[in-house]
Amino acid sequence: MKKITAIAHPNFALIKYWGKSNFYENIPAMGSISVVVDAMKSETTVSFPPELKKDTWVLNKVEQPSLGHLEPSLQYLRSMSPMRQSCLIESTNNFPTAAGLASSASGTASFVKAMSQCLEIQPKRKQMIKATMLGSGSAPRSLFSGFVHLDFFEGALDCMTILNPEEWPLKVIVCLTSLERKSVSSRDGMEISRKTSSFYKDWVNNHYQDIELALSAIASRNLKTLGTVAQENCLKMHEVMKTSQPSIDYWNMTTHSVVKSIETMQDDGLDIFYTIDAGPQVKIICKSDLTEEVCSAMKKISGIKSIIECGLGQGARLIGG
Ligand code: DP6
Repeated sequence: MKKITAIAHPNFALIKYWGKSNFYENIPAMGSISVVVDAMKSETTVSFPPELKKDTWVLNKVEQPSLGHLEPSLQYLRSMSPMRQSCLIESTNNFPTAAGLASSASGTASFVKAMSQCLEIQPKRKQMIKATMLGSGSAPRSLFSGFVHLDFFEGALDCMTILNPEEWPLKVIVCLTSLERKSVSSRDGMEISRKTSSFYKDWVNNHYQDIELALSAIASRNLKTLGTVAQENCLKMHEVMKTSQPSIDYWNMTTHSVVKSIETMQDDGLDIFYTIDAGPQVKIICKSDLTEEVCSAMKKISGIKSIIECGLGQGARLIGG
């Protein structure tokens, strides 16, 4: 029996997407820029066991009640293949799932990569982007390496690497402040914000300026400018969340302590910045010579569950035979 395995890494947005233009096709209302990280990964194996009666997804060794967000991606890939046998999808994450660490992005990207190979189809780049996006709006970014731009140029969706990891080998220090699943999913949260936050319109309309600024900062390897725009973009997104009804606040006490400590280091002249997604975890971005200093400052903060040091990673790929 054929078994295909792929891995993909999570990616963390520096310029974020929060809100959809099409809920059913899961299309983001704005572009985004992210970094793919190397030390965290999702691994997905796909097979078609002859005795299997229905499509089955086993995540971290636990059978799931349904295929969840993988279902639309699977349907789309199946439409390119005559194969109709039930599939077994076995995924593992080497980091906490659904805790604001982009497990759905890396999980979906590894699934799409493995499933395309198992179905013996060769989706084009844009079809891979669509297949992953149907699973999660941030997932196309995990198909690519390093700094990645998910773009809507003149309405057409595209996604690409803008700098490879070795071209600007920054570090991403992930500070876990909780290991629990988040209470509001990104998908639900975005819809609540779109419908109720009075800041939402401005957030969407002004977003392109942040993208442009970040693109030029990345092109010129200007960490200070990138940090300023990324941090502001992150805080704007959390403001949109907080001004939603009901208000969405993913931060916990430790998140606040970590942010305070980073701000103190920034005041002391350290060229670092942070970003926070739909969860309480804080990701700190810096050059490698500051990793030790930043990590030892973080270790002193009570409430931090663990710290994961990452470099920038590669896009989704097949592994094994
Ligand atoms: C805050 O891609 O997880 O991390 O498309 O509904 O699966 P769905 O949402 P998801 O949302 C990501 C939101 C974010 C910002 C970002 O990664 O751009």
